[in-house]
Amino acid sequence: MNPKTLEPLFNYDHMDRKNGRSNGLTGQDILSVDQFDVDTLDYIFTRSCEMREMVRRVGSTDLLRGNVLTALFYEPSTRTSSSFIAAMERLGGNVIPITQGVQYSSVSKGETLADTVRTLEQYSDVIVLRHPEIGSAKAAADNATIPVINAGDGAGEHPTQALLDLFTIRDELGRLDGLQIAMIGDLRYGRTVHSLTKLLLHYDVSLRFVSPEILRLPLTLMNEVIDAGIDVRETHDVADVIEKADVLYVTRVQKERFSDLAQYEEVKDAHAITPEVMKRAKEDMIVIHPLPRVGEIHYSVDKDPRAAYFRQVQNGMFVRMALLAAVLGKA
Ligand code: NCD
Repeated sequence: MNPKTLEPLFNYDHMDRKNGRSNGLTGQDILSVDQFDVDTLDYIFTRSCEMREMVRRVGSTDLLRGNVLTALFYEPSTRTSSSFIAAMERLGGNVIPITQGVQYSSVSKGETLADTVRTLEQYSDVIVLRHPEIGSAKAAADNATIPVINAGDGAGEHPTQALLDLFTIRDELGRLDGLQIAMIGDLRYGRTVHSLTKLLLHYDVSLRFVSPEILRLPLTLMNEVIDAGIDVRETHDVADVIEKADVLYVTRVQKERFSDLAQYEEVKDAHAITPEVMKRAKEDMIVIHPLPRVGEIHYSVDKDPRAAYFRQVQNGMFVRMALLAAVLGKA
């Protein structure tokens, strides 16, 4: 029989999984925080609270049953990969995890990112990608018909981390407007800093940037901050910000982005949050960190109730549950 005479078994209209869906996030790639406005952020945070409630009551649901997520990680990850996996599983979906062994996949045979993505989309409904090059998530998305979520593109952006950081600040302190937020550490290469800074420009906050000279915030981003009319200052010293800050956003110096390791050695211990430093901070402030930490927050700070970084870790799962549900059209 000539197959051309057969009627199609399925209506393939629904296969255009990236375009033309109703909710603003459904079917969309999540590449940069530039995509989010305040309404979308409010929507995600409301849904994240619902996800938290659901997990606390019953642990999991079948909202995304039948959906498959591919976690494609070309750089190391603990929290981002496992929270996406946990998020998908708590919503009843399944995961293809390529998080430990890209070296065992065909990437090691020289396959391009485009071909890898074109292959994985045949099996899945959404791809979560971490890759060392700036712009890689966009390049992957351009080659995919299913949504691609940027889980960190080199020193570029990390939009889902910024969502969970912002959610955590609001959840811990009850508001965003009026806060003074100090970002400390590697502001140059820290992609989480770049994404969170841009999101904060939607609110009436003041920003303090604390870093060694060579790790200052990129000029283009600083110009965005200034153009947004935000009260902003830069300093090399945590002492200048500790008394007034409502949030300390502490970050790791991104060793893997340095071409000259001697330079890394010079700045790696520039800042350390210790119990002594915390004594000078407000009583109702919080310390957060995208983690991993490698010495910039002393372990002895952990028992301080203002240390919110492990609560922040758990929020990552709730926020990613909300985002996955929205992107996959289960809003
Ligand atoms: C961050 C990252 O990978 O950019 N970690 C994370 O996703 N939680 C921060 C870092 O690696 O320092």
